[in-house]
Amino acid sequence: MPPCHLITGGAGFIGSCHVLRSRTAGVRVVNLDKLTYSGNPENLAALRDDPDHIFVRGDIGNDELTAHLLEIHQPDAVINFAAESHVDRSIHDPDAFVRTNVLGTCALLRAALRYWKALPEDRRAAFRFLHVSTDEVFGALRPGDPAFAETTAYAPNSPYSASKAAGDHLVRAFHETYGLPTLITNCSNNYGPRQFPEKLIPLILCNALARKPLPIYGTGGNIRDWLHVEDHCEALSLVLEKGEPGRTYNIGGRSERTNLEVVRALCGILDRLRPHPDGPYADLIAFVADRPGHDFRYAVDCGRLERELGWKPRHGFEQGLEDTVRWYLDHQDWTDRVRNGEYRAWLETNYGGRRA
Ligand code: NAD
Ligand code: DAU
Repeated sequence: MPPCHLITGGAGFIGSCHVLRSRTAGVRVVNLDKLTYSGNPENLAALRDDPDHIFVRGDIGNDELTAHLLEIHQPDAVINFAAESHVDRSIHDPDAFVRTNVLGTCALLRAALRYWKALPEDRRAAFRFLHVSTDEVFGALRPGDPAFAETTAYAPNSPYSASKAAGDHLVRAFHETYGLPTLITNCSNNYGPRQFPEKLIPLILCNALARKPLPIYGTGGNIRDWLHVEDHCEALSLVLEKGEPGRTYNIGGRSERTNLEVVRALCGILDRLRPHPDGPYADLIAFVADRPGHDFRYAVDCGRLERELGWKPRHGFEQGLEDTVRWYLDHQDWTDRVRNGEYRAWLETNYGGRRA
C-alpha cells in the first residue's frame, strides 16, 4: 500500500505545489479544500485523471467531514495548509481568520486525535500531524537583530499572525496534553508559480503587465526573507519524514531583500523579457500609504533544519525570481481567470483609499 496523506488547503499556492510533489513521490493524496477566493482547482489540472488524488471540497472546521475522510481513507499523516493567508485581508476582516486559522485548526486537531487514538499501535507510532505556519508569529525584527530562531518568543502583530500563533499554540497543546505526534513549521515569504495575485510579487507582475501603478507601502524599506515554494515543500517532506514529534522547525531562504529591491528586480526582468515602448516598468512605481502595523523585517534562522535534517534551499533568489516571472508571462490566462469580480472588489477595498 502506498502512503496516504490528508492534505488541507491543497488547491492554494503552497498546498498545490505540495500535492503535485506528493503525487510525483507516489503518495496517495486526499485533498480537502474549501475553495475560498485563493483556492483554485486549475492549480491541480495535471491531476485531473489521477485516481490517487481525491479532491474533496469542504471546510477544515467541519469535524464530521474530516472524521469521515480519516475513517475511510486511513491516512498516515495530516498536513494542514488550509488558512486565510493574506495580512491585508486580515486587517479588513479579522473574524474570517479566527474561524479558519484558530477554530478550524482546533476542529481538525480534534478529529485527528480521535482517529489517531483508534489506530493500531504500529500505525499510531508512525502517524504525524504537520501544521504549516509562518515566521510572522515571531513579530518584527529591527535592522541588525538576530534572525528568528525556534526559541524566539511569539509576538504577532497582525490579526493574521495572531490567528496563526493561536493555531500553533493549539497544535502544541494537543501534543503536550494528549500526546498527538505533531510537527510545526514556521516559514518565511514564499514565491513561485501559482501564487494568488494579492501578494507582492504576483500583484506587481499583474499590474506591470497591465501598465497600472506598482503600489509600494511606505518607503519600500521593509525587509522579507524570500524562499522558493519548491524549497519550502522539500523541507516539509523532510520534516514529515525525519522531524521529532512535538518540535518546531523554522524554514527560511537566507535571501533578505527590501520590498523596493524586489520590485526593482521584477521591473528589470520584465524590461529584458517583455520591453514596453512607453519606457521602463520602474516608471510605474507608486509609493502609497503604509500597511497599519507593518512588520519591518523578517529573517529566519533555519540552522536546525539544515543541521538536523540536512535541508538546503536549491533555488537562488535571482534565478528563482526570473523563473517565476517567466511562469506568469506564460500563464496570463491563469491570472486573467483569477482576477474576477471578487478580486477587483478586493483591489478597491485595499488600494482605493491609499492614494500615491
Ligand atoms: P493560499 O491562500 O494560497 O491557500 C490557502 C488554501 O486554503 C486555499 O486553497 C483555500 O481555499 C484553502 N482554505 C482556506 N480556508 C479553508 C478552510 N476553512 N477549509 C479548507 N480549506 C480552506 O495560501 P498559501 O500562501 O498557499 O499558504 C498556505 C499555508 O502556508 C497557510 O497556512 C499560510 O499561513 C502558510 N504560509 C504561507 C506563506 C507564504 O508566503 N505564502 C509563508 C509561510 C507560511
Ligand atoms: O512571512 C510569511 C508570510 O509572508 C506568510 O505567512 C503570509 O501568508 C504571506 O502573505 C506573506 O506575508 P507578507 O505580508 O510579508 O506578504 P505580502 O506579499 O502581502 O507583502 C510582502 C511585503 O510587500 C510586505 O512588506 C508588504 C509589502 N507590500 C505588499 C503588497 C500586497 C507592498 O508594499 N505593496 C503591496 O501592494
